[in-house]
Amino acid sequence: MQGQLFDNLPEQLSPMPAGAAHPIGPGAMHLPGFIGTHAAAILATIQAISRQAPFRHMMTPGSHAMSVSMTNCGLLGWITDAQGYRYSRTDPATHMPWPPLPADLETLARAAAAAAGYPDFRPEACLINCYAPGSRMGLHQDRDEADLSAPIVSFSLGRSATFLWGGARRNDPVARIILQQGDAIVWGGPSRLYFHGIAPLARRCAPQEPELRYNLTFRRVTHLALRDEGGTR
Ligand code: SIN
Ligand code: FE2
Repeated sequence: MQGQLFDNLPEQLSPMPAGAAHPIGPGAMHLPGFIGTHAAAILATIQAISRQAPFRHMMTPGSHAMSVSMTNCGLLGWITDAQGYRYSRTDPATHMPWPPLPADLETLARAAAAAAGYPDFRPEACLINCYAPGSRMGLHQDRDEADLSAPIVSFSLGRSATFLWGGARRNDPVARIILQQGDAIVWGGPSRLYFHGIAPLARRCAPQEPELRYNLTFRRVTHLALRDEGGTR
């Protein structure tokens, strides 16, 4: 996972076709195809990460196994168990630090954030979700991060899925947005705490369709100590 995954980054910071980005809410953008030609490299990276930090179905604080299997890369990883939802520097399955966030993947995540209007995004955590047929993610808020001024950046790979995009309140109307391999979604600012989820993936795949969906969400967890000096974590 060291070295260059992608060619010519950061010069190629706009793999997205011009004009394709569209707002889905205040401070939130859907960037269809943003990942462009990097999808295969990212899928290979996910496989390499999962050899060090395997996908697992974590337990919710209420003792239910999550429908989606998860792993992480980066300085911090999101975990859940009987003690609650939180970030950890180490993988509870191996007691090892999470695999590092590859520099090229961080560059691409920062480019997506910048394209959505968040130029100073410095992710510390990348949660990787794997959706098998029938799996889902119920409506929830991402609110385990201390720094809510940073956006969430999400990349979709593999099988398509329906993103459920609600509002600030759990009962707000929910839009359904198809996310395809290569799409990015960024939400922050006024929509940082909006409810969102993934509708259950059909149990049967269409012919030619990949069976699994992967999603990466890049998160800033702690406050940037030296925000004005740039480049400092
Ligand atoms: C999440 O909310 O953590 C995942 C969203 C997705 O899978 O697209
Ligand atoms: Fe989420």
